[in-house]
Amino acid sequence: MPYNGGMDETALKQRLEALREEIRAHNYRYYVLNAPVISDAEYDALMRELREIEAAHPEWVTPDSPTQRAGAPPADGFVKVRHPAPILSLANAFSAGEVRAWYERIRKLDARVAQSGFVVEPKIDGLTVVLHYREGVFVQGATRGNGEIGEDITANIRTIRAVPLKIPLFPLPPLGGRAGVGGTLTPSPSPTGRGGSMGKIQPSLPSPSRSTPVGLPKGEGMKSGSIPSYLVVRGEAFITKADFEALNARLRAAGEKTYLNPRNTAAGSLRQLDPRVTASRPLTLLVYQIVAVEGGEAPSTQWGVLTYLRELGFPVAHSARKCETLEEAIAYAEDLGARREELPYEIDGAVIKLDDLQVAASLGFVGKDPRGAIALKFPAPEATTTLLDIGVNVGRTGVLTPYAVLEPVEIGGVRVERATLHNFDFIAEKDIRIGDRVLVKRAGEVIPYVIGPIVEARTGAERPYTPPKVCPSCGQPVEHFEGEVAWYCVNAACPAQLVRRVEHFVSRGAMDIVGMGIKIVEQLIRANLVQDVADLYTLKREDLLPLEGFAEKKADNLLAAIEASKTRPLARLINALGIRGVGEVMAAELAKHYPSLDALSAATQEELEAIEGIGPNIAAAIVDWFSRPRNREVLRKLKSAGVWPVEKTAPAEARAPLKGLTFVITGTLPTMSRAEAKDFIQAHGGKVTSSVSRKTDYLLAGENPGSKLQKAQTLGIPVIDEARLREMVGV
Ligand code: IVH
Repeated sequence: MPYNGGMDETALKQRLEALREEIRAHNYRYYVLNAPVISDAEYDALMRELREIEAAHPEWVTPDSPTQRAGAPPADGFVKVRHPAPILSLANAFSAGEVRAWYERIRKLDARVAQSGFVVEPKIDGLTVVLHYREGVFVQGATRGNGEIGEDITANIRTIRAVPLKIPLFPLPPLGGRAGVGGTLTPSPSPTGRGGSMGKIQPSLPSPSRSTPVGLPKGEGMKSGSIPSYLVVRGEAFITKADFEALNARLRAAGEKTYLNPRNTAAGSLRQLDPRVTASRPLTLLVYQIVAVEGGEAPSTQWGVLTYLRELGFPVAHSARKCETLEEAIAYAEDLGARREELPYEIDGAVIKLDDLQVAASLGFVGKDPRGAIALKFPAPEATTTLLDIGVNVGRTGVLTPYAVLEPVEIGGVRVERATLHNFDFIAEKDIRIGDRVLVKRAGEVIPYVIGPIVEARTGAERPYTPPKVCPSCGQPVEHFEGEVAWYCVNAACPAQLVRRVEHFVSRGAMDIVGMGIKIVEQLIRANLVQDVADLYTLKREDLLPLEGFAEKKADNLLAAIEASKTRPLARLINALGIRGVGEVMAAELAKHYPSLDALSAATQEELEAIEGIGPNIAAAIVDWFSRPRNREVLRKLKSAGVWPVEKTAPAEARAPLKGLTFVITGTLPTMSRAEAKDFIQAHGGKVTSSVSRKTDYLLAGENPGSKLQKAQTLGIPVIDEARLREMVGV
């Protein structure tokens, strides 16, 4: 017997309508409001029930039913569609100056420009889609094509859950049914494709209120209570960063090939001839333009358009903002650039649009670019280039790390000629070959890295890579440990490891020997003057003078810097030793508990594990380090050279006014260097981390603070100066 849920036909049809409305409402909460109220499983149950009713009554299936998203069979090709109005492009500006020049030009063309405000929107790095609605029902979706004629990808667009199949969504049906009412669930990536995590950016657009009884809520964008008989909107289809990562993680787990970046994946997914493939990709959408309207009137401002589209149930960028002045618009566009890493999707710029759409339209175009808007482009964090060779670095613990030698390329305004390849497994998994075109990314503070090869660009001349069997520095065989990805050079006398160890020892966060760069370290080791870090303290003028580039003054300066390093606090020396897992923060913690290296070297595994933040692995690494004869010899030499700081009273027990507080330092402080400020904070019990997050208690800011200041302000973290810091500790 076909499904009837124990209902007669009338009741069943009502249930069907109720289910559709409810599912639409949940899609809307999820994709537009960012605030789902049911779990994926509950959502799936509603969909299942709807499918069952429709299976029993195929004659009730309508194209706007939420079940009509996937399913369509593969097509032979795409049909061309003419857009109702040209789908225009945007002129680019690469600096605030170029934006100001644009504004000057258009202000001269039309005096009304000066009266218009602005709307700033993120420029999403996705693909333009054009969506057609007749009597509120989604009927066609197209690609941009050449701007006049695109391709009909209706079946694919249907699969995107963020695309409303029916508008408007109001009034929202009451919550309940099988779904139940609950607290807000955070969106989570899920294999069903409902994983659109749109981030938690405060909406600045008014959101339609849930209590709206009937009809459409009245907002700035609303022109009439009814919806247009024909409406064409334009938006951007894309994949969020989180969904992209989750998709790749799934593919990796299944042993399949991963994708290069969200944009290419989105592009490939949209132009799939088989909509079932598109349905399996986590595409989502944000809209920003009304292309055509019949039987209604479009709002006359861009802000009105965004508000209106949102009221109809379309997803609109939460980070869009209305700005009164050009300078405000530029500042906000730049702010979006500074925050691009935090946005849930990739953006390649910010679009500054005249809010007054009539004035904007009357300005006309230059080629395909309307004069009324401009994109402030951010430097691209990715580029393709040729992989010339693969080199291998030997780290201070002996880990071998492959790196890419690249045909120099500019990424994000910086010339890049090296990039990490992570490890040898990565090269094999991605099948990276020498001579390949590769995609390279450089984002934020991280070292540039190779994402993968552009397989389509292969000529056949590329050579597969075989990892070395011996250490490129000392020629000893390399080893691999069970359960680890890394390959190691285990030769304790390997010169490359020694170079790295000494480099770390003299570095800023460690003994801070000013003027001793990698070149000098290499010279000293090559000349056999330094066999371990303690040898630095027995160097003499006569040793240095024969080295290339060493005149008397340089030799004396270096010796003075070495001498000065003897007084570094214990925490610095512990960090300088380069014990696996013991960085600056951990070293500071250890120095609070042990007044000297004598005490630390006698610490037991249990004792160390009792310290907050030290787990069994690090405790074991510390005990192991102090047990090795080679290291004990280095300690003996350091002690006899007078490099043996002893903390009189452990500051943690003495006076720790900053205990429990986490600081981030930025900019130039009036009297302290950043390293000194860090020591100061740590000596008074505080912690210093490198990036601003919700866990940060204070941002210590000096002159020219940069993006950390902005971030702290966004998060509402108190910003203090050096004077205030001193007050806090009472000095
Ligand atoms: S407005 C006349 N707004 O950027 C309107 N475009 O380089 C012109 N894009 O083809 C487009 N986010 O695919 C506009 N908020 C946004 C956008 C946006 C992304 C894309 C769009 C366009 C390209 C222009």
